[in-house]
Amino acid sequence: MPKAGRVEVAYHDQIAPDAAVADREAMASSTTVLVSRRESFNAAHQLRDPGLSDEQNQRLFGKCANLHGHNYVLEVVVAGQVDPATGYVLDLKRLSDVMCRQVIQDVDHSNLNTDVPWLEGCIPTAENLVMAFWARIRPELPEGSLRSVRLWETEKNWAEVADHA
Ligand code: NI
Repeated sequence: MPKAGRVEVAYHDQIAPDAAVADREAMASSTTVLVSRRESFNAAHQLRDPGLSDEQNQRLFGKCANLHGHNYVLEVVVAGQVDPATGYVLDLKRLSDVMCRQVIQDVDHSNLNTDVPWLEGCIPTAENLVMAFWARIRPELPEGSLRSVRLWETEKNWAEVADHA
């Protein structure tokens, strides 16, 4: 450490660091910031109610009743105040890890109708999938921080669960 007499001269701009931290904390605690992470996966599905006949399923779901695949994109938004120590609302690496562990590793390169135990009994529409994903992601994040989970099935179609409270 330099002697006290030099500190005032050499570090003139930082003579009140406590005030700067207090300013940052005041700003951070009064502003909600949204952050988001995207992950993608590829999966097959067919829209089919096992309680109905093939003909009824064809009538209800059309071509979607046939087995086919999508390049899905999962987008998760988290809201909170910026931690003055890190500058983060949430480390997005941590959010990515939660998405991969809770959802992506189970659904990627799978048949969503048959391969994923926690989707059993679910007609794998984007709506039903995104509700299941929300339920698996929310408990892994800080209380009240999950704002929305959006699933893009194609570039034109998405479904979302959101909590705008
Ligand atoms: Ni489809």
